[in-house]
Amino acid sequence: MSASSVAAGTTAELLAAQTHNLAHNPASFSIAHETPADSSAREALLDRVMGEGRKRKSSEKLRRKRVPAYGTALVARDDNGAMIGTVRLWHISAGKRACGEDVPALLLGPLAVEDAYAGRGVGSRLMRQAIRNAQALGHKAILLVGDPEYYNRFGFVAAKTSALAMPGPVERHRFLALELEENYLDGASGVLSATGKLTSERLATAV
Ligand SMILES: CC(C)(COP(=O)(O)OP(=O)(O)OC[C@H]1O[C@@H](n2cnc3c(N)ncnc32)[C@H](O)[C@@H]1OP(=O)(O)O)[C@@H](O)C(=O)NCCC(=O)NCCS
Repeated sequence: MSASSVAAGTTAELLAAQTHNLAHNPASFSIAHETPADSSAREALLDRVMGEGRKRKSSEKLRRKRVPAYGTALVARDDNGAMIGTVRLWHISAGKRACGEDVPALLLGPLAVEDAYAGRGVGSRLMRQAIRNAQALGHKAILLVGDPEYYNRFGFVAAKTSALAMPGPVERHRFLALELEENYLDGASGVLSATGKLTSERLATAV
């Protein structure tokens, strides 16, 4: 579909064209582990899709200058190898247990998909692979801040974070968790804290 046809089309024509486009040109993409060479493409993608405000989110406090959890930083690539999606997960403690022990868990985000590929299942594939990898690596819960209308489909619910808090403002209904081990978050309370390995100053701007 050309830009001119989008500008000229009515909403109905546009929807019909999009449906036709999706049916006849299903997105072809692959999911892979992120590599150090992906960092500038990832940052550019995040700036395009999420804007500058992304660095002011409460979640960012748990990610800044930290290394993502091993095996959970994924990218989606188109047939030419260009990055069209990204997701990363981070080591956190989901508050504390009554005995004062940390509650090791992961924080997911950002998840972002290039606009041109929206609605073609890229975000879902990234999510499902990231969840599978986290489970295979023995993680017990994943938390995130995001739209429940999107993340509910992967099993994330706000009920599991009711005793937890972000280290900054958060809309409670968008503060979600998925337990990979049943009832793992029961009894966990308090503020999330970053527990991931610190990156070196040289790499801090790249992750
Ligand atoms: C959210 C995002 C990652 C989804 O990626 P995607 O590849 O388009 O998603 P999928 O193709 O797997 O899923 C599409 C479905 O999700 C729905 N969806 C997409 N974004 C949504 C949102 N923010 N809230 C609710 N539903 C959403 C679509 O309506 C579509 O629904 P359908 O399956 O009923 O048709 C992508 O839109 C994006 O990068 N958004 C901007 C960055 C962002 O906000 N990220 C965090 C999300 S809170």
